[in-house]
Amino acid sequence: MRKKLAAGNWKMNQSLDEGIGLVSNLLELAATKTEYYQNNNVQILLFPPFIHLVLLETLLEGQPHFAYGAQNCSWADKGAYTGEVSASMIHSTGAGYVIIGHSERRQYFSESNRILSEKAQIALKNGLQPVFCCGEVLAEREKGEQFAIVESQLSEAIFHFEEEDIKKIIIAYEPVWAIGTGVTASPEQAQEMHAFIRNLIAKNFSTEIANETSIIYGGSCNAANAKLLFSMPDVDGGLVGGASLIAEDFFTISTSF
Ligand code: PGA
Repeated sequence: MRKKLAAGNWKMNQSLDEGIGLVSNLLELAATKTEYYQNNNVQILLFPPFIHLVLLETLLEGQPHFAYGAQNCSWADKGAYTGEVSASMIHSTGAGYVIIGHSERRQYFSESNRILSEKAQIALKNGLQPVFCCGEVLAEREKGEQFAIVESQLSEAIFHFEEEDIKKIIIAYEPVWAIGTGVTASPEQAQEMHAFIRNLIAKNFSTEIANETSIIYGGSCNAANAKLLFSMPDVDGGLVGGASLIAEDFFTISTSF
């Protein structure tokens, strides 16, 4: 059975102390729901800035329903790349995941599908599971191009991977017009795209792999709308930005399956 995921993307927020406070509050709340997480196959993923990764190893020790990762990694193995952090360095903190291809990386750091493909590959090679993001901008949706855009993002970046690698990838559908805007995709819009993506995986790989792949939704997912979104058959959870910075809200999202 594929996992249900509540993933928190802190983006460029939280000082060291604020991060510790947020995780401590979240753990306290989550302690009341361990049975729920177990019974519903829920995994909570935290994606803080790099500075928190080492701390999370200690804070999340002995927490079977929690795991963590980075928001980005370099396409290079190691070397003279000032300011970059490699997949193997991230893995050495105990992290198990990395977000690849967030629309903010595509937009502000000009990351192309080709670079993202290299990043996903090096992440996998170093034992990290990529959360690969895809999604259209508003103008593309208005022209009815959303399916073609998402298909090209996935085919150019990851659909040429080996089956063993594809099985480790989590897909996040994040319509860019919904990110940080307070405008959420309707449950039906999310379901339509998630089913489309699952179908693409089935076509390119197999139905079995498609059924095992977690496809999560991102874009103004919050404590009030998570339940409806997650009730859709192909929506396996959420990649949450703003609402993941408030322990109570993110906890509510993690119990909305
Ligand atoms: P948001 O961000 O929840 O603040 O819209 C989601 C994301 O960018 O992953």
